[in-house]
Amino acid sequence: MKTVRPVQISGVGCYVPDKILTNHELEKMVDTSDEWILQRTGISKRHIVDRGKATSDMAERAVRKLCDSIQLNCSEIELLIVATVTPDMFFPATACLLQDKLGISRTWGFDLSAACCGFVYSLSVGAAFVAAGLHSKVVVVGSDTMSSIVDYQDRATCVLFGDGAGAVLLEPAMDEKNCLIDFYHEVDGSGGPDLQMPAGGSLLPASCETVKNRLHYIKQAGPAVFRFAIRKMEEASRTILERNQLYPEDIQLLIPHQANARIIRGTADRLGLREDQIILNLHKYGNTTAATIPLAMQDALNLGRLRKGDLVLLASVGAGFTVGTALLRWAF
Ligand code: UT7
Repeated sequence: MKTVRPVQISGVGCYVPDKILTNHELEKMVDTSDEWILQRTGISKRHIVDRGKATSDMAERAVRKLCDSIQLNCSEIELLIVATVTPDMFFPATACLLQDKLGISRTWGFDLSAACCGFVYSLSVGAAFVAAGLHSKVVVVGSDTMSSIVDYQDRATCVLFGDGAGAVLLEPAMDEKNCLIDFYHEVDGSGGPDLQMPAGGSLLPASCETVKNRLHYIKQAGPAVFRFAIRKMEEASRTILERNQLYPEDIQLLIPHQANARIIRGTADRLGLREDQIILNLHKYGNTTAATIPLAMQDALNLGRLRKGDLVLLASVGAGFTVGTALLRWAF
């Protein structure tokens, strides 16, 4: 991205609900085992929202944590971008519900739907507003209530997903060395049928039939998505590094979308990355779709694995198919 003014991530805030669903609890719900889930995915538990709570509630908690952590008054936020595939409802946008819950005025916002790439795509959109000088305080939130669209009778998908939210603040960079460097994204719509929620949209509106046929749940051709993900995580990562004259060994941390530990380790192997160059936290959260990358950022910060000046690569692949990468130097 050719920036007019450099942009930095100035803070991170995350939220996961208290309620935990373990692999052992899933063993009682479907024909699965803790061993299978751990070996095939790396997940051992996930967090689930309470009934009556939704994506905007988790987003609100994440934004409040972000604001507390950097002493930002919520009322200073100029633009809210919410990445989600599980909005509270079709409309109004979750960003509007979030604005109301935060009780802030003189802001605007919108939702962005790009599944597991939602956070990285929203980061690039938000950064463009800051780079162009149109806004100085943009909050990007990835928030997904996957439990609302998971079929807890389908063992192939129900073990994978969890709920959570993460938010970051984008601002003009204090030091132009430590800023967002580049984005590289792709979509491949031919992969749409491999990961989708078939009903509820304009093509197949909700009906007794769609409910009876369980079409309001995630349907995934797991192995096809796996193959695409592992190929594209590597390809897109190489593209963004090469066009910035950088090599995998230059990065301090790859923060990948957390869908499957085998995808992450496979990508790391193909790129020749060492274990200390990647962060894995899906064992405790599962796949939280748009929230995985900020949740992993937060964990990396907590573990002291993200320091000012570190070269960081974000990489994700998701439904669409969508492919998203971002390269940045950590700013705080
Ligand atoms: O974030 C969005 C993008 N999504 C992804 O990146 C997910 C990509 N895909 C994956 O991560 C993997 O494909 C899965 C974890 C979903 C599945 O792992 P897999 O190694 O590809 O398994 P599979 O679908 O090829 O199934 C292997 C076997 C099958 O049994 P048979 O036909 O060999 O007898 C499945 O029925 O495992 C069975 N199976 C299970 N067994 C126990 C599928 N799910 C389960 C389960 N417990 N939960």
